[in-house]
Amino acid sequence: MSRANRPIGVFDSGIGGLTVVHTLRRLLPGESIIYLGDTARLPYGTKSHRTIERYTLQMGQILQRFEPKLIVVACNTASAHGLLALQAASSCPVVGVIEPGAEAAALVKGPVGVIGTLATVSSASYDEALRRRDPDKVIFSVACPLLVPLAEEGWFDDPITDAISRRYLNQLPFEAKTIVLGCTHYPTLLPSLERTRPGTRWIDSGEVTAQSVDRLLQGSLGYRTESARGPLRILLTDASSRLREVGERFLGEELGNVELVEP
Ligand code: DGL
Repeated sequence: MSRANRPIGVFDSGIGGLTVVHTLRRLLPGESIIYLGDTARLPYGTKSHRTIERYTLQMGQILQRFEPKLIVVACNTASAHGLLALQAASSCPVVGVIEPGAEAAALVKGPVGVIGTLATVSSASYDEALRRRDPDKVIFSVACPLLVPLAEEGWFDDPITDAISRRYLNQLPFEAKTIVLGCTHYPTLLPSLERTRPGTRWIDSGEVTAQSVDRLLQGSLGYRTESARGPLRILLTDASSRLREVGERFLGEELGNVELVEP
């Protein structure tokens, strides 16, 4: 099979990366996508660098079996801790969500807030990526560990999510009018987040990553040449019945057949 017709491999610690797949399928409907969610070992956000790096490499190995033309690490936590190792170990290009998110945030004037998992925020990866582009950028970061379980529970638009979001977002000074959603689960919580902090410009790291994938395909990787809508295969390391229902809300379409793989 020619390289352009090979699938794009997308990986996340769970089903959060399906928000990135949703955008990829909107922007690049002809592409074939293999999604891999490490649902058996979620969350990554509370784990150490070593463990997240090891899990990321294992997930990359599983995706390599499908000979992808590109791997998208659709998880901020894995991008912060495992991207470099995976890039070194992979035979295809690998992109994460932090560089595109930082790129978009650096273009905006004024201080920037970053919300993410504990592991993402403590890695300071966004700070580093933003300061590389703008050394004077004022950045405020807050770890929001309870938001991932709320999203996985499907409490997207709920008074309890409002209260927890308020508690986290109130830690960011009001001059931070732009906030990076530094976790691929968070776009699903936007109804609550917007209510909590109206007038904020939200940067969805997954959305801007999908745009950068489009640019890569436009370049040397190439678009899939078949005209039909591209197939989507979903592989998970564990699948509960609840997951299907919530996963469809993340993806915005039916999940179809879910295949189980060993991590
Ligand atoms: N979706 C992951 C991210 O973007 C977070 C979920 C987790 O903690 O595993 O950071």
